[in-house]
Amino acid sequence: MKSLFESVKVGDLTLNNRIIMAPLTRMRSKQPGDIPHTLNALYYSQRATAGLIISEATQISPQGKGYPATPGIHSKEQIAGWKLITQAVHEQGGKIFLQLWHVGRISHKSLQIDGKLPVAPSAIPAKNSGTYDSNFKPVAIETPHALTIDEIKSIIEDYKNATKNAIEAGFDGVELHGANGYLLDQFLHDGSNQRNDIYGGSIENRCRLVLEILDEIIKIIGKGRVGIRLSPYGTFNDMNDSNPIELFSYLLSEINSRNIAFVDLIEPRASTAGGSDKNNDKAPSTSELFRSKYNGFLISAGGYNPQTAKEAIEKNLADAISFGRYYISNPDLVNRIKNGLELTKYDRSTFYGGGEKGYTDYKNFGN
Ligand code: FNR
Repeated sequence: MKSLFESVKVGDLTLNNRIIMAPLTRMRSKQPGDIPHTLNALYYSQRATAGLIISEATQISPQGKGYPATPGIHSKEQIAGWKLITQAVHEQGGKIFLQLWHVGRISHKSLQIDGKLPVAPSAIPAKNSGTYDSNFKPVAIETPHALTIDEIKSIIEDYKNATKNAIEAGFDGVELHGANGYLLDQFLHDGSNQRNDIYGGSIENRCRLVLEILDEIIKIIGKGRVGIRLSPYGTFNDMNDSNPIELFSYLLSEINSRNIAFVDLIEPRASTAGGSDKNNDKAPSTSELFRSKYNGFLISAGGYNPQTAKEAIEKNLADAISFGRYYISNPDLVNRIKNGLELTKYDRSTFYGGGEKGYTDYKNFGN
């Protein structure tokens, strides 16, 4: 029987266990410049016993930014900052992937260069969604600018540069953020993509951008160091699709032929992306829906506790389990699960922005 605590091969890497630290935006990069720094290195190194850390979502370009103080991977200073983090994690025996992020329409003029409008596949605003301006003041989402084909090509270049920068910064690989209603997800779903060119309309066309970017980043870093995160049935940031089963079945069949390191699927029960403490336990599970459609290494995320994680691995519903909120408040999560120690509850008020409080000061029983 498979165990959460055994080492496992994933793409080009061997992980110490099957417990993954989920990507978690914490909005604590150094300003100005969205630069990772020593406090962030301490936070990640505290969590390095995870089999794999997936970094917080990281903007590939200034245009890809949607929230204040999220880190980037497009400037020399940011690459130098990330080096502190990859070194600190590696020194503790951990592995870390960078999550490549473009927010698309989930942004605000005040976060964009020259106050330009955020961009998206179509000029459709996300309803009931919001972000924060650079002073952390809540602001409503605007109607985005619909990207031209030339502008899409230039975003593909930004993903390529970001991947090269991730290598320079010492990451073990990259995860393409295709989830939670950001740019790539906006292209996938017909609720947000109403284009009538090669990037819209049919499922093949709506998946085109994600697959083109995957192919480009595979050329740069190698398929064994690329993963992708998807959130079928996610509703966060006003996502909806007329036929998610068909959409994601097609996408997974295309991903199969590329033989990348892993797919990281968020469970439908966690459709609010961690924004609420309630799970929809009546939602279907990704293993029921998609396990049979994907041939490779499957990471499952969303709403797990130690018991359900162990069961999911033992029943082979997934190959690794990702923890988000519990990783915020339990830096030594692997030890806690292994030894049946009580988990510390997270403090939602310190999720975004601030300093060490609620970030590097959670209780740590050691490894
Ligand atoms: C998230 N989540 C998230 N997802 C992602 O792909 N990139 C990100 O940067 C973030 N940021 C983020 C910040 C915070 C504070 C939370 C709570 C969540 C979603 C996260 O990775 C995970 O999928 C959800 O939290 C559900 O898993 P848990 O928390 O139930 O284990």
